[in-house]
Amino acid sequence: MKRVLITSALPYINGIKHLGTLVGSMLPADVLARFSRARGHETLFICATDEHGTPTELAALEAGKDVRTFCDEQYALQKNACERFHLSFDHFGRSSSAQNRELTQHFARQLWKNGFLEVRTSKQVYSIGDGRFLPDRYVIGTCPHCGYDRARGDQCENCTRVLDPVDLINPRSAVSGSTEIDIRDSTHLFLKQSEFVPQLRAFIDSHRNDWPNLVTSIAYKWLDEGLQDRGITRDVEWGVPVPDDIGDGKLKGKVFYVWFDAPIEYIGATKEWADAINNNSWKTWWYGPESKDVTYYEFMGKDNVPFHTVGFPVTVMGSSEPWKLVDRLKGFNWLEYEGGKFSTSQHRGVFMDDALSLPLPVDYWRYWLMANAPESSDSNFTWEHFAGVINKDLNDVLGNFVNRVTKFCVARFEGRVPSEGEYGEEEKALCAELDQRIKAYTEFLEGLEFRKAMGELRAIWVAANEYITRAAPWTHFKTDRTRAAVGIRMGLNLVHLFGHLSWPVMPTAARAIHTAIQEAPSIIPWPDEPMAQFLDQLEPGQAINPPEVLFSKITDEQVGEWRMRFSGTAAI
Ligand code: 2FM
Ligand code: ZN
Repeated sequence: MKRVLITSALPYINGIKHLGTLVGSMLPADVLARFSRARGHETLFICATDEHGTPTELAALEAGKDVRTFCDEQYALQKNACERFHLSFDHFGRSSSAQNRELTQHFARQLWKNGFLEVRTSKQVYSIGDGRFLPDRYVIGTCPHCGYDRARGDQCENCTRVLDPVDLINPRSAVSGSTEIDIRDSTHLFLKQSEFVPQLRAFIDSHRNDWPNLVTSIAYKWLDEGLQDRGITRDVEWGVPVPDDIGDGKLKGKVFYVWFDAPIEYIGATKEWADAINNNSWKTWWYGPESKDVTYYEFMGKDNVPFHTVGFPVTVMGSSEPWKLVDRLKGFNWLEYEGGKFSTSQHRGVFMDDALSLPLPVDYWRYWLMANAPESSDSNFTWEHFAGVINKDLNDVLGNFVNRVTKFCVARFEGRVPSEGEYGEEEKALCAELDQRIKAYTEFLEGLEFRKAMGELRAIWVAANEYITRAAPWTHFKTDRTRAAVGIRMGLNLVHLFGHLSWPVMPTAARAIHTAIQEAPSIIPWPDEPMAQFLDQLEPGQAINPPEVLFSKITDEQVGEWRMRFSGTAAI
């Protein structure tokens, strides 16, 4: 049996994510996980919240809560939203777990032992008012190049020059506004990434053909621009502590940088999963010869690509232990909202909790997002487009087909699969077309080309609609009952097929569609047999139960109301 390990980029703990984050990581990973389970592969799907770092500390401060309590609350909210989106993680962990702490410290010890970490002292901004060192983004001051007086420590927004926070004129703290600022020496651990360039290049070369261009081009750009050694510790409190045996005692009280421990949490969360169910198999997914038969997939937005093609691989390579490296890395462009950016601060755009609050099935979101995934370029969410796609693809094409066929079966064939007649040329031709299309659909999913996969799924629904329009059982019923029976039997078999094919992307609708024909298993298997066999599976005489309402349309009024409501300008 094939073993498939899937991780989605870990969402930051602070706040419910918007649809752009969902479509660029968790959702496509879920579609792959479901597809993989449907094909009978042993599948492990892991995600977690990414909890450490200064932004978390500051968000907790702003909320007036201690960091741990803040994270506990936010974790519960995110977990709930993910469940309601039917993201089928085997485990949704937390990077603040004991397992991640232990593994992060383990990797750091290995790197230290192997000589890939170095202690360096540099000048840093210290806020006397706040009693702490300030990371780049939390120092504001006047740009030494253009004089802009609100430049951030890492970059000037006005002239775009990259800055060193110690160069800012009249620096002040973004945390408290305090101007009591000092420049002090601080000691940190640096990971000697520059020593890994040849190994990294060979690693990326080996994936030239199976990673998207978007991913390899970002990775090469980093390597070509010259890889810098990277500071992997910070002067903050909330994080994985640097153990005393690393750095000759010079790093007391420091923690690892959030981007050092976050990817290790992919492994940490696997251990959390195993510990929770008392199963000690976690290492067989990640380590040594036992993990050789595992294909490991990572999903992420393009901003995360450098950390997964360079940062995390250096940690793994530098450990000199046989931990698994990613096999298939899928990166996404951005999803825009009504032609602009999603904005967390202005609450512009649709966030996961917003989407869940609307009277729409979650599958509407899942389908639209995957059908419009920002793969080869950025894509744009507009309410009009969303409503158009849902009303057409799901209502007029898929829903209408299921309704017409099942309702007619109830009205004219006592709600049972009709037994009369034999499939003829029309049906054979459709089977041949579906064999081709299902093969293409399967290959697109295997190739992680979700947009094209959804296009093929839609084409399958359309082909079935065209068939039933030609077969026109409703017209023939009065004059040629046998002919009508053949059309309806084929139609019911097609409905059953749609229950199977739609499950990875629309699990709830797929279940309702399948249940219209017969009870569905919890994992709805992928149809592997030739269509001629699959579409002759239903027992003649078997009873069916049409769903009341499968889908309903989004109205123009709703579009108008929601566009206004989520524009970020109206009061929420
Ligand atoms: O960009 C982000 O949302 C990060 N929290 C992703 C982390 S992925 C991983 F490495 F943990
Ligand atoms: Zn400037």
